[in-house]
Amino acid sequence: MLDRIQRLKEHALSELEVVDDPESLRAWRVKYLGRSAELGEMMQALKDLDRDQRPVIGREVNQTKTALEEAYEKREESLRIAALEHSLQHQRLDVTLPGRPLPQGRLHPATQTLRRIYSIWAEMGFQIYRSREVETDEYNFELLNMPAHHPARDMWDTFHVTQPGILLRTHTSPGQIHVMRERAPEPIRVILPGMCYRYEQLTARAEIQFNQVEGLAVGKHITFADLKGTLISFAKRMFDQDVGTRFRAQHFPFTEPSAEMDIECFLCGGEGCGVCKYTGWLEILGCGMVHPTVLRNGGYDPEVFSGFAFGMGPERIAMLRYNIEDIRLFWGNDLRFLEQF
Ligand code: DAH
Repeated sequence: MLDRIQRLKEHALSELEVVDDPESLRAWRVKYLGRSAELGEMMQALKDLDRDQRPVIGREVNQTKTALEEAYEKREESLRIAALEHSLQHQRLDVTLPGRPLPQGRLHPATQTLRRIYSIWAEMGFQIYRSREVETDEYNFELLNMPAHHPARDMWDTFHVTQPGILLRTHTSPGQIHVMRERAPEPIRVILPGMCYRYEQLTARAEIQFNQVEGLAVGKHITFADLKGTLISFAKRMFDQDVGTRFRAQHFPFTEPSAEMDIECFLCGGEGCGVCKYTGWLEILGCGMVHPTVLRNGGYDPEVFSGFAFGMGPERIAMLRYNIEDIRLFWGNDLRFLEQF
């Protein structure tokens, strides 16, 4: 038996010496160290041997197995090194070849505009307040001074959800009520940015989804002069230090008085052109003094508190800034458009 083991070992080692590729190395391993290899069988047969022979043979089998395993690993390592050397010799790298550029993503133009707006308002002390996109009829309309069947609701074509009384917010204004109810009676200075949804016919000027940035300031001595000063200061930072501005009377149910703010057309400098429809002015936001009913609904006594609010559309502002003619480009996922920013 000992002889047989010795012969097996010599045989295996001499065969290993001529193995020179991974394929035959694997075959060698199966043959000598695999499940049904001779050594394994010998191990199995130990139990049939005489008692006094068993430990001697057993030790020999084990030592042989270890020796073969070590020889295998050495061979494997030397084959690996040989393969590496071969590839280094034969597959030279040309390190002067130009690399392949990785495509780099960028911020969406709406995000870029939003971030600019955030940082301007942050400098002026306004915090960001995130309000929900799925709203109730109560918050989107009623608490903003538009009871059921109020004709002003027609200004906002609404996506209703299957559950009655639930809708996708048509503007960021319902966030005013949320933030007031959370903070009353503390003073407030926040902007409320986010996506809004309207059941619109898609056109170059109307999308079913778009961002708005709402603003709200509530305190004890806030006047229309504060509204004007703050918004003019915003416009100067957003567009140009010397930009001309004007306020036009308007009507919104949740503010009284209400206005819209225009800036001088920066394309024609106020002369009149296609973009400003020959008026010389571009509308950028709606605003007004928070209606007493809205203040009360938010938990503020309108005899003591007052406030101003405004709402602007970042996509609209981006369209003016970059002279984009079709609002559908924003959410159309066309890289040819997005890559220009
Ligand atoms: N919510 C209005 C809209 O979607 C915009 C607006 C106008 C917001 C006046 C205001 C405001 O806060 O005071 O058309």
